Amino acid sequence: MLEARGICAGYGDLEVLHDVDLSLGEGEILAVVGSNGAGKSTLMRTLAGLIRPRHGKIEFGGQDVTSLPAHRIAELGIVYVPEGRRLFGRLSVLDNLLVGSFVKRTRSERAKNLELVYGLFPVLKERMQQKSGTLSGGEQQMLAIARGLMACPKVLLLDEPSLGIAPVIVDRIFEVVSKLKALGLPVLLSEQNVRRALQVANHGMVIQTGRVVMRGTGAELLASDRIRRAYLGM
Ligand SMILES: Nc1ncnc2c1ncn2[C@@H]1O[C@H](COP(=O)(O)OP(=O)(O)OP(=O)(O)O)[C@@H](O)[C@H]1O
Ligand SMILES: [Mg+2]
Repeated sequence: MLEARGICAGYGDLEVLHDVDLSLGEGEILAVVGSNGAGKSTLMRTLAGLIRPRHGKIEFGGQDVTSLPAHRIAELGIVYVPEGRRLFGRLSVLDNLLVGSFVKRTRSERAKNLELVYGLFPVLKERMQQKSGTLSGGEQQMLAIARGLMACPKVLLLDEPSLGIAPVIVDRIFEVVSKLKALGLPVLLSEQNVRRALQVANHGMVIQTGRVVMRGTGAELLASDRIRRAYLGM
């Protein structure tokens, strides 16, 4: 459903991603694992159309989207939830959610989507009128994911949703990722919480300094000595 081949991308003269291939199937979760600076966010930004790849091709549902601008990619249903949340802190929870449904196609779905996200994250319903800047870090992360869901994603790009969040909220976030999987929504999940990410994922890929160095099913990668040593501290 989302396919990238031979992606090279970076910033200015700096090439960060070297010849990256990726394939995300229907209803599948693909975990992108790697240490700080490996290029996970750069990969997501490239897929979201925020960075134009220098080489390579990106296809979505058979359509070549390589050179489409970010807003067109979002309209097609590739929805990016960036690292660090990027909420409108002075707006209420509800207004942040409504910003998520700015894409024309999604407006008629607003009521239904609100119901969906309030079901996934009841705390957001309780705090509908609260300014998002005053939410806890974990609640803000929930809101960022919920805002992404308001855009009727066909694919969700989730960049480090568990970063800097208390363990109990991390559980909540991974529960929601499992629910999205059950709903059949494909998710590209970047995580430093390697164990949790590979547990929920169908497939995983490991990026090191911008290259894919390992691929496998979540279970295969969890069992691999190399992963256990490098990322699981075993
Ligand atoms: N806007 C930018 N301008 C220049 N270089 C950048 C920019 N953003 C990222 N980089 C560089 O690109 C490389 C990959 O960064 P990226 O953010 O993709 O890594 P990451 O795997 O997401 O890391 P983290 O786990 O810390 O989020 C790093 O060396 C980083 O310094
Ligand atoms: Mg990152």
